[in-house]
Amino acid sequence: MNFDSVLQFLACPETGDTLEQENNNLISKNGTKYPITDNIPRLLIPTKSKEEEKVREKMQKFYETVTLPGYDGIDSPSVLMDKAKKSGFGRWLDEAISPMASVMEVGCGTGQMTNFLGLVSSRKVMGIDQSIPSLKLGQAFKEKFDLKNVSFIQGNIFTLPAKNNSVDILICSGVLHHTPDPYKGFTELLKKVKPGGYIVIGLYNSYARIPLGIRKIIFNCTGGALRNLDAHMRRKDVDKSKKEIWFSDQYKNPHESWHSVDEVLKWFEKNKVEFVSCVPNIAGRMGDETPQNQNLFKIHPKGSSIQHIAKQLGWMFTIGREGGLFVLTGRKQ
Ligand SMILES: C[S@@+](CC[C@H](N)C(=O)[O-])C[C@H]1O[C@@H](n2cnc3c(N)ncnc32)[C@H](O)[C@@H]1O
Repeated sequence: MNFDSVLQFLACPETGDTLEQENNNLISKNGTKYPITDNIPRLLIPTKSKEEEKVREKMQKFYETVTLPGYDGIDSPSVLMDKAKKSGFGRWLDEAISPMASVMEVGCGTGQMTNFLGLVSSRKVMGIDQSIPSLKLGQAFKEKFDLKNVSFIQGNIFTLPAKNNSVDILICSGVLHHTPDPYKGFTELLKKVKPGGYIVIGLYNSYARIPLGIRKIIFNCTGGALRNLDAHMRRKDVDKSKKEIWFSDQYKNPHESWHSVDEVLKWFEKNKVEFVSCVPNIAGRMGDETPQNQNLFKIHPKGSSIQHIAKQLGWMFTIGREGGLFVLTGRKQ
């Protein structure tokens, strides 16, 4: 497979230098060779700090067995499109992202969002993750349906194999809270976004996840019994294997952290990122928005800290039922 069209976005994870393809390798200026195996460039190098690397390795092992989201039943682009659009978030992203944009999804897992956004063939879409079994599932779908504009790459958020200021949109959802230093991860991701581009970050919310935290204690004390206390485990429309994956990811994950809206807004402020929107909303909708119709890239009211606390307490009973993930979008200045 030829990677010429993606090389303008990729860089040596060690030095940041440009990469060139020579047969089945990507080669850095200093001569380091990164193999392309199963059509996936292997650009993962360890995190510099030893302590942090231990956590990364633990998470890599975990997500090599827990690959998500699953492709069961997703056997065509139209089924993938239906699923992504039903999820709300997928549809809102698709509507907000220009057909000409370059998009990088970091921590793409099995790459369903990457493949979905790549169904618009004029977009350049890249999915980066450290888990090869997950990437292989995304790559298999891409190859089966010949999505030429989609690429999957193995990489580490903390040594990201991408050029600085190179992509229009960077998406990282459900990932940073599984890393040893989410703020540092955020700053690494931001470096790759072009000035004026957007960063979309999904994180576990400190308030919304309280009920789940309590259930986790109960499950730990009862050896996993009473699983039906979790609303997702009671769902009739989700099959058994998907429920098992959900349970492992939510209740047996070796590393996670929780974050508040104001904390992430501070990350934005510190790094000159303008707040654009939050899902769920933290203050108000734009005039033309309905609850089903969120405009992710339109600047929304930011609200006050008091409003944020009230909203987040309410999230315990809404998004808390499905993991408590909130998504903030910002614009790099
Ligand atoms: C909970 S899954 C989320 C997958 C996908 N974003 C989604 O929303 O369904 C977390 C993903 O982050 C990846 N990940 C965790 N730490 C990473 C790191 N340091 N570098 C790259 N990927 C990482 C894992 O391999 C895993 O696929």
